Amino acid sequence: MARRWCRLRTILICICTPCFCLALLIIYISVMISLTLNPHTSQGTTIVYYVGEINHFVAPGTLNKDGFSTIPKTFWEDNLKGSGLWNQFQKTIDRHFNPILNPNKAIDRSARSYFDDFLLNQGFSEVTVMDNMRNTFDNFPQEIQQFVTYMQRRDYPILIQPDGVCGAKARLEKKRPLLLFAIKTGEFNFKNRQAIRQTWGRAGWVAGEKRNGSNKEVLGGYVRRVFLIGKEDTGEMGAHVSDLLTMESKTYGDILQWDFKDTFFNLTLKDVLLWRWFSRHCNQVHFVLKGDDDVFVNTPKLITYLQEQLKKPQAKSTMEDFMVGDVIGAGMPNRVKKSKYFIPDTFYSGLYPMYAGGGGVVYSGLLAKRLHKISKTVHLFPIDDVYVGMCMYRLNALPVHHPAFLTFDFSEEEGQQLCIYHTILLVHKRTPEQLVSLWADLKKTWTQCQNVHLRGVDDKKVTQENLAKS
Ligand SMILES: *[C@@H]1O[C@H](CO)[C@@H](O)[C@H](O)[C@H]1NC(C)=O
Ligand SMILES: *[C@@H]1O[C@H](CO)[C@@H](O)[C@H](O)[C@H]1NC(C)=O
Repeated sequence: MARRWCRLRTILICICTPCFCLALLIIYISVMISLTLNPHTSQGTTIVYYVGEINHFVAPGTLNKDGFSTIPKTFWEDNLKGSGLWNQFQKTIDRHFNPILNPNKAIDRSARSYFDDFLLNQGFSEVTVMDNMRNTFDNFPQEIQQFVTYMQRRDYPILIQPDGVCGAKARLEKKRPLLLFAIKTGEFNFKNRQAIRQTWGRAGWVAGEKRNGSNKEVLGGYVRRVFLIGKEDTGEMGAHVSDLLTMESKTYGDILQWDFKDTFFNLTLKDVLLWRWFSRHCNQVHFVLKGDDDVFVNTPKLITYLQEQLKKPQAKSTMEDFMVGDVIGAGMPNRVKKSKYFIPDTFYSGLYPMYAGGGGVVYSGLLAKRLHKISKTVHLFPIDDVYVGMCMYRLNALPVHHPAFLTFDFSEEEGQQLCIYHTILLVHKRTPEQLVSLWADLKKTWTQCQNVHLRGVDDKKVTQENLAKS
């Protein structure tokens, strides 16, 4: 009996094991086929890894998870229902480059070198033909309507540009330029520009705060400057204003003007077009500071800080992703109708990706070129610093928070301290008059405040705290 049973079992094993394996194989193949034929069925099957507090989405077998940086949860979600208009536009493109659905395309996304008009338009028309679209659009505030009407366009011609601002003096210079100041300003803000030119924004060779240990030479770097300007709605005065700007450009050679209306919701164009111009004409510069025309910058400290970054052992690879500023993690879109930042949830739903406040942010020239490429696959968004965050997010790069960037001000108490401006790299909201007097004070207190350090620099911890706060 026992023998018989034993034989039976051997037969069973011999027949069943292959059957079972074959069945598994068939199931596996059919799942793979259905995934390939219909990407929509993959909804909700994404694998989520938790690293620290942040979700990482990793397609099994396509990319290793260490290669991924933090990606907010909404990114790979494939759920068209109930999301804002912008999310819907962008979804078509993100799906196209999704590393889970299209592993090969996702890799050449950052390598593509032409503007993918076709894709952007496809995304646009797929969404705009939907029935409920008309209604959604009609309910937007006027500025958003205006934005949506023109959001497909970014090929605005350059009206004025500096004459070789990045290369002109290069032959006399021993090193690559260290820093480009790229300042958003309006045609009428001549006073702000003039104050910047005379104070922290001086171009040419600029001293840092350190000396060479062996020969006591002052260490510094070469600095460049451009002002980013659109067109003001000037009516009859138009011709007059543009003459003035042409003259200003001839005198200072630092005006970069494009032919689009200089409105709040058009500011993103300044980023996108700056990246394009930078990639063509200025790409030897190590760093870019993009900021408003009402910030104060402690240029000597900034120069030293940036030179230290370049000297770090892993500088070559960190420069690929280098962006530093006042970082806001997982911000909520402003839903207050009266605010100038108001974004209705029918236009954008969900949280913003992590971004650096637009008052002043520094990034590497390498990153500027990468942002230029990736921005061709990200629809314009009306708020410029958030848009930069959206592009960073699609590069799997993260801005780093540095407490010495104050896009909001000091407390009143702190403001009284003698050396307070020696503890910062940048502070927002100063008038042209203040820039001039602050700059003079900075020079006056230089020796006294020589050993004052920048505000806390434990970057990693601060970024985590920032994340936790929001
Ligand atoms: C400091 O000076 C020495 C001697 O002149 C020179 O070799 C060295 O490169 C300098 N260091 C820096 C950081 O410029
Ligand atoms: C942006 O600029 C274009 C070109 O001048 C203009 O037609 C459009 O209305 C502007 N968009 C917004 C939101 O102001």
